[in-house]
Amino acid sequence: MIVCSCNVLSDNAVRACLHRGPDCPRTPAQVQACLGCSPKCGRCARTIRSIMQTALQAALDEATHACSTGCATGCSLVKVQTAEEGIAA
Ligand code: FES
Repeated sequence: MIVCSCNVLSDNAVRACLHRGPDCPRTPAQVQACLGCSPKCGRCARTIRSIMQTALQAALDEATHACSTGCATGCSLVKVQTAEEGIAA
């Protein structure tokens, strides 16, 4: 499904650029940069953020994330920036 009509990005493309590690995109704009484009109208930001949160939560729920609870609270996988934190797109 196309989630960004300006850049013709699919939900699968968004999920494909999410990965473990410190260089994982944290904002919709970073996802778009990862996919070689940039935000234009910004209408897709909420949808991309939702995909990011769902995908990263699923990654956290996998058995491969064997960190302790204390580690998980500081894990880079859970740090998806919200719109309220100041970056809208
Ligand atoms: S729909 Fe994604 S920038 Fe316009």
